[in-house]
Amino acid sequence: MTHVFTIAIDGPAGAGKGTLARRLADHYRLNLLDTGLTYRAVAHALIQHALPLDNVSAAETAARQVDLARLDRAVLSAHAIGEAASKVAVFPTVRRILVEKQRDFAKTPPGAVLDGRDIGTVVCPDADIKLYVTASAEVRARRRLAEIESIGGTANFAEILADIVHRDERDMGRADSPLKPAADAHLLDTSEMAIEAAFLAARAVIDDVLAKRDKA
Ligand code: C5P
Repeated sequence: MTHVFTIAIDGPAGAGKGTLARRLADHYRLNLLDTGLTYRAVAHALIQHALPLDNVSAAETAARQVDLARLDRAVLSAHAIGEAASKVAVFPTVRRILVEKQRDFAKTPPGAVLDGRDIGTVVCPDADIKLYVTASAEVRARRRLAEIESIGGTANFAEILADIVHRDERDMGRADSPLKPAADAHLLDTSEMAIEAAFLAARAVIDDVLAKRDKA
């Protein structure tokens, strides 16, 4: 059986893990799944049907209907949907349904880069490489503000920072699959690192693992 290669990337909102995941998937020619989009799709479905975000059975139904091949980033990337996603993400039954789909995706040859909050700890605990990408809340808020301004929008730094801190608390504080580095994750703090430097640092870690494996 051919080995399916898995790179698990976890970290808080806005740490740069999405861009890093995309660069690594391109470089190592692996499939790519932004698992945040799966939680966003559930939240979006509830909002579309004007259902409250704590309606667990509706969230379970929406989770079953999530089709990984049809996740529309343009629709799902809205800031408010990210916030709503972190509310439906606390339900263990919703997580179980989505995690199963994410695991099936990871098993598809030649393997995948998955990014999220619980990839190294829950979804793919046997991943070949685990990265935990983080940055200070201030740096993440500054980046988010620059992103919004670069597309002509306006936003308030203090509000963005408060949102980020709040989402961190919800993601790190929930009982089921809280955000935390896996014991065997490589930590990558991008507070003072441009994305290119983070990409090179991640490649160094991955190439090292691959070289040791080739020798073994
Ligand atoms: O990464 P993104 O901001 O798109 O994720 C939205 C929300 O979905 C997160 O704040 C988190 O609550 C939830 N999520 C999760 N587990 C994942 C990915 C995302 O709980 N693997």
